[in-house]
Amino acid sequence: MDHPHPATLDPIYAPGASAAEAALSAAKLRRRGAKLLVGSAVGFGLSFVAMMATSAAAPGTVVFLVATVLGMAGAGHSIAALVKGLAAGPGATGTASAVALTFGNLFMTGLGAFAAFLSTVTFTRGRQIRSAGKILLPPVETGDAWTGAGLSSSGPVGVIETDDEATRAKVAAQWRENGRTEHASVAAFARLTLDLMALGAPPELVADANRDALDEIRHAELCFGLARAIDGRIESPGAFPAAARARTLSRSRTLALAQLAVDSLVDGALHEGVSARIIAKLARRCEAPAIQGILKEIAADEGRHARHGWDVVRWCLAEGGDSVAHALEGALRALPKTMSSPMPDEARDGRWECWGIMGEELEAEEHEATRVDLERRVAQAIAATRQATLGYGNVSVG
Ligand SMILES: [Fe+2]
Ligand SMILES: [Fe+2]
Repeated sequence: MDHPHPATLDPIYAPGASAAEAALSAAKLRRRGAKLLVGSAVGFGLSFVAMMATSAAAPGTVVFLVATVLGMAGAGHSIAALVKGLAAGPGATGTASAVALTFGNLFMTGLGAFAAFLSTVTFTRGRQIRSAGKILLPPVETGDAWTGAGLSSSGPVGVIETDDEATRAKVAAQWRENGRTEHASVAAFARLTLDLMALGAPPELVADANRDALDEIRHAELCFGLARAIDGRIESPGAFPAAARARTLSRSRTLALAQLAVDSLVDGALHEGVSARIIAKLARRCEAPAIQGILKEIAADEGRHARHGWDVVRWCLAEGGDSVAHALEGALRALPKTMSSPMPDEARDGRWECWGIMGEELEAEEHEATRVDLERRVAQAIAATRQATLGYGNVSVG
């Protein structure tokens, strides 16, 4: 299979028709690259000032991310200028290709690391949709549209054995928060379907994405139905227009495959894998039969979703070859060693695990186990791809 290298994807990176044209093009690229790098430097300065001057992390983080994008774009233009400049010299085509390959690989590694960073700023259960790294979730409003999962008629008695109304309300609220992430996952799998279709994926992967979306609809209904059974409040996810604003793939096929591979690695293999392990453990620790049944059902589904995430990663590797492999290696380097999701303070010590709400220790244990397994499996998949396409396969992903 013939895979275009990232350095050849955009006409601006294509070798010029003559040395004079190449030299002119290189000068333009150098000027553009310099402007972008200056913009990036200013952005990093502003983000530092914003982080120092405000208590909220968001403004500084946004400026930091913009500065990073500008820096990557500036570096890309500078690399292209270097390649053009080399190509302008007599007999320099081979050197230019080697330089383009090296920097192209570095670019893909940086792209993968950047995408993984954005996807791990906050950990939530399962596949999510984001805009500039921010997870998008639906609002909650009065209504019974998503509470009909067979629990709403059972009432609060027996679901949670406590007379503490404040605790009952907080546990129900956390189940609604779980339901919001499940509801948003429906949109995430719809996005995955569109991405797979755009890239020409086989029907099995498209079918899996659609089946997984149906699972997430059921999960959202289970969570909102359970919350209603716990505290009696009739609430459902509301209109979710932000779902239509989730990020789309690059128009470059190689970059799009790399994006999809990293997304599926982080959100599919890692986040869904961690969720499956945590929820399976919660099912064993849970003391309320109604909640235990829900946890078992969701755990089995999330385990299958994680396997589908791996299927997408392997397909992207087979399609995109070494460029995707570099993006995945970059992603692995950017994965945080620890991860913490938002949770009520009362749940942190694990006291709510009897009601299906995880504590910090359980989350840390299962994240660590999943991450270690993920690093090993990615290394194996990359080695197999390189063995098949390039003839070498000893890969370090440390
Ligand atoms: Fe789910
Ligand atoms: Fe899922």
